[in-house]
Amino acid sequence: MICLVLSGSTIEENLLQVERNRPYIDIVELRVDLLEESELNQAAAFPSLIDLPVILTCRRQSDGGSYQKSERSRLALLSTLLEGSFAYIDLEEDVKKSLAEAQAKEKGITIIRSLHNFETVIADIYHKIAKMAALGDIPKVAVTPRSVNDLITLFRVKEELASVPQKSVLGMGDFGFPSRILYKKMGSMLTYCADKPLAPGQITARMMKELYRADQVDERTHLYALIGNPVLHSFSPQIHNTGFHGIKYNAIYVPIPVDSVRSFFALAEMLKIVGFSVTVPLKQHVLPYLGQITREVKQIGSCNTVVRKRGLFSGINTDYYGFLRPLEHAIETQSIQSALVVGAGGAARAVVWALRNHGVKVTILNRSAQKAQQLANETMASYDSLEHAHRYTEVNLVVQTTSLGMEGEHMGVDPIPSFDFQPSHIVYELVYRPRVTALLKRAQNGGSTLIYGLQMLIGQGMLQFEAFTGYHYPKRLEQQLDLEKE
Ligand code: ATR
Repeated sequence: MICLVLSGSTIEENLLQVERNRPYIDIVELRVDLLEESELNQAAAFPSLIDLPVILTCRRQSDGGSYQKSERSRLALLSTLLEGSFAYIDLEEDVKKSLAEAQAKEKGITIIRSLHNFETVIADIYHKIAKMAALGDIPKVAVTPRSVNDLITLFRVKEELASVPQKSVLGMGDFGFPSRILYKKMGSMLTYCADKPLAPGQITARMMKELYRADQVDERTHLYALIGNPVLHSFSPQIHNTGFHGIKYNAIYVPIPVDSVRSFFALAEMLKIVGFSVTVPLKQHVLPYLGQITREVKQIGSCNTVVRKRGLFSGINTDYYGFLRPLEHAIETQSIQSALVVGAGGAARAVVWALRNHGVKVTILNRSAQKAQQLANETMASYDSLEHAHRYTEVNLVVQTTSLGMEGEHMGVDPIPSFDFQPSHIVYELVYRPRVTALLKRAQNGGSTLIYGLQMLIGQGMLQFEAFTGYHYPKRLEQQLDLEKE
């Protein structure tokens, strides 16, 4: 079940939240601790106003809630509200026998016995859950994983506590994010969502239902991941989950923040992850764990896509081919003889190798001469400093691979202001936010042909999708992605 946590301060606002999220949810949690005092007298009637089961909860501050009065008044409030037709009441694990508990039992309202920890994953988590279940209640544990290893502890709940049929398990914070999406893989009966996410790792009900289709995950669902750190704001889940749905493939793609590649491979083994994307800062770190790599991965020294083939993890680099895709025609017709590559970092490595492998003469311009020299030596290219950009106007192609021009601190910065763009140039920008960078704007004014960062981003994603599924990315969805990105 997908549960919407109602965060409104009034009953009216909560009713609006239910209405907005109605297509995506199965159950709601009414957080009376968030309600204004004057609204409390209407709270008992809330369940009769909506056609969904309601959990009654009044969170203390020590458990991340907002209720400030004494414990006695909290329990008295809950007891009064039990007049209402709530399906569940959430009572904390340390609440000893109370009137609210007795009333709930009498009325047949199921008790969810909850335990929160905002620091860590508690050491005796399995024991605690078993103990709470032994009371005849539904145990709920919301804990805070700080590493992939902690996440493994959470996913093991499923087999460790197979005998507890109904339980709710939740990993909070960024590292807990995968546990929210893959709640069924933990054996959790529900996952909590928000109308508007406020805390790290939280997600909207709409994303949970429409993008991840988390409630559809079953034993046969193929699992794919995105690993790196940070990963939670990536566009890749949009590409892959939409694509899987488009080809009716029972699969899900989940971002997993990773602090240790070794631990991730243990998690991959445990969850039977069949493929994953790799992003910063792990593109090099995964290499020692791969059973097989392509020539490009070896050359570039980085891998952004891993697929599992007959038990072997096999690494490819779709940045390489994604970069080449918009240039295919120009390369085939040999209209690109020479190129200027701005930058000498990870992205530049894929670009320079791709161009050199196709016989293009390359000059690398970089702030640090040493890094430029190193890449130039490896690829038999030349190098120079950014200030000398104006000397290279005879090239056919300019590729911008640095973070200069990107939204944020480098917004509006042009790394090669002395370069005079002309109609003969193809200008390829790897930055995709904003769509038109300062450099592209100048190139446009100079009449050059532009290639946008988004094209490479989507291109590498399509190729990754093919590697994952063996199918082409549905064309109609590709156009849709482009529009969403605008
Ligand atoms: P990526 O994987 O995106 O390529 P990277 O490997 O960190 O990231 O490489 C960043 C590139 O952007 C490098 O070429 C870097 O230049 P240096 O090698 O001199 O560090 C370049 N870069 C980043 N910030 C820059 C800045 N403020 N001015 C000039 N170049 C910059």
